[in-house]
Amino acid sequence: MEFKAIVDPQVKSTAACAVIGVYEDGFLGDAAHRLDAQLHGLIAKTHAARDFAGQLGDTLLITRPAGSKAARVLLVGMGSRRKFGRKQYRKAVQAAAQALLKTGAGDATLYLSLDAEFDLDAYARARIVAEIFGGQNYHVPTLKSGPKPKPARLHAVRFAAADAKGARAAQQGLDVGAAVANGQAFARDLANLPPNVCTPTYLGTRALGLAKEWRHVKVTVLGERQIKALKMGAFLAVARGSVEPPRLIVCAYRGAGGDSAPVCLIGKGITFDSGGISLKDPPAMDEMKFDMSGAATVLGALRTVAELRLPINLVVIVATCENMPSGNAVKPADIVTSMSGQTIEVLNTDAEGRLILCDAITYSRRFKPAAVVDVATLTGACIIALGNHYSGLMSNDESLAAELQAAGVRADDRAWHMPIGEEYAEQLKSNFADFANIGGREGGACTAAAFLAKFADNLHWAHLDVAGTAWLGGAHKGSTGRPVPLLVDFLIQRTHGK
Ligand code: BES
Ligand code: MN
Ligand code: ZN
Repeated sequence: MEFKAIVDPQVKSTAACAVIGVYEDGFLGDAAHRLDAQLHGLIAKTHAARDFAGQLGDTLLITRPAGSKAARVLLVGMGSRRKFGRKQYRKAVQAAAQALLKTGAGDATLYLSLDAEFDLDAYARARIVAEIFGGQNYHVPTLKSGPKPKPARLHAVRFAAADAKGARAAQQGLDVGAAVANGQAFARDLANLPPNVCTPTYLGTRALGLAKEWRHVKVTVLGERQIKALKMGAFLAVARGSVEPPRLIVCAYRGAGGDSAPVCLIGKGITFDSGGISLKDPPAMDEMKFDMSGAATVLGALRTVAELRLPINLVVIVATCENMPSGNAVKPADIVTSMSGQTIEVLNTDAEGRLILCDAITYSRRFKPAAVVDVATLTGACIIALGNHYSGLMSNDESLAAELQAAGVRADDRAWHMPIGEEYAEQLKSNFADFANIGGREGGACTAAAFLAKFADNLHWAHLDVAGTAWLGGAHKGSTGRPVPLLVDFLIQRTHGK
């Protein structure tokens, strides 16, 4: 889909559809007034006749209204003018996208934000449009037989701005939003694929594909022998139960000068988490194909960064394997030695994410990173704590945590700061090794993060537990592509002032 900012305060668009906002009280902004004048008052009459009340998220499509330059006019309810803000704007844009994608319109011009007064600038408003339209246009890669669903007609979306300055800012927002949606779609595709397709080897191949497609991206995929040579004993302990070989995927994007320290993103890439010998209950075990969502989203963020050519250095590390039971699998009570040299008593083989991540964190040190952020569907406890609204955010660095939290707010992909203190580390005590890989049921998301923190000494490190936010169950079952928007916003912010 193509996104373009235009200057059109007079509402002269000849697009296949003009999209216009109407408030609850029937208020029409300047743009809607101009259009309404062309339509001989049709919009006002429609509102007066109570055919369209302007309730937030309602839409009404009018085809070929007399006087219109556009073949269709889509009215979008903006709700109360007093309450209109960022959240309401997103909802209105979402409704517009949903309705438009069902029409026969090939292109559309959006006047939604032209004279809405609320606290977002043209850049942010436009970015939201591209992100939402891109996201709505995403289709789950199904392996259903039979005819393929037809792609939507809509291929071009124009964003109307009042003046040239606004249009320039809007175009930047559209470009960023579109690239975020592309990165998110990349991540969603990977996470939605079945685990017999999306294996560690497959993830490696897809990462290599990114290097082919994008300049400044280099990818190295390490196999079992090389992972052994690195002494990643914790990672290998998880991988050993499966016939699928593990991979350590290392991607480097160079957008800034050679001497600027990279930001390092680490993704949990368990392509299927059966629990291992500590086998999970059968109901909903299929959902554990999403256990590589962290890996998918850090790769998605890399794709976005490469598309935007951000002036930043970025290293993306993905540790990926299956967690399976077998005669060869790691057992409860086994003690393994991590790459850091610290020994771990594996009391529950289902707490495998932290075992692969701890070695990836240790490995990240060789890049002398400015910051390390790991992304993982790490704990069911995080879902209990935060539901699917917020990602869990833990860090050993208050200012890094604040940066990530603010990025989540701006990108509408929010994270909630949670504690990791000595108290939580206490719960990991072991009589036989340096510590255990589980700390009991209480505060499970925090003890998991406290475990990771033991490997992040002297690093500026943060952890995002996305178990609740990376995918949805029920009727909308599938990957959300979160937290790509948060990560990209965080990285963009880091380029400012440079
Ligand atoms: N991948 C799971 C966490 C998870 C659970 C993600 C449900 C999404 C939905 C993780 O590997 C796991 O099994 N964690 C255990 C840890 C426990 C054994 C300490 C959990 O949360 O139950
Ligand atoms: Mn598990
Ligand atoms: Zn897992």
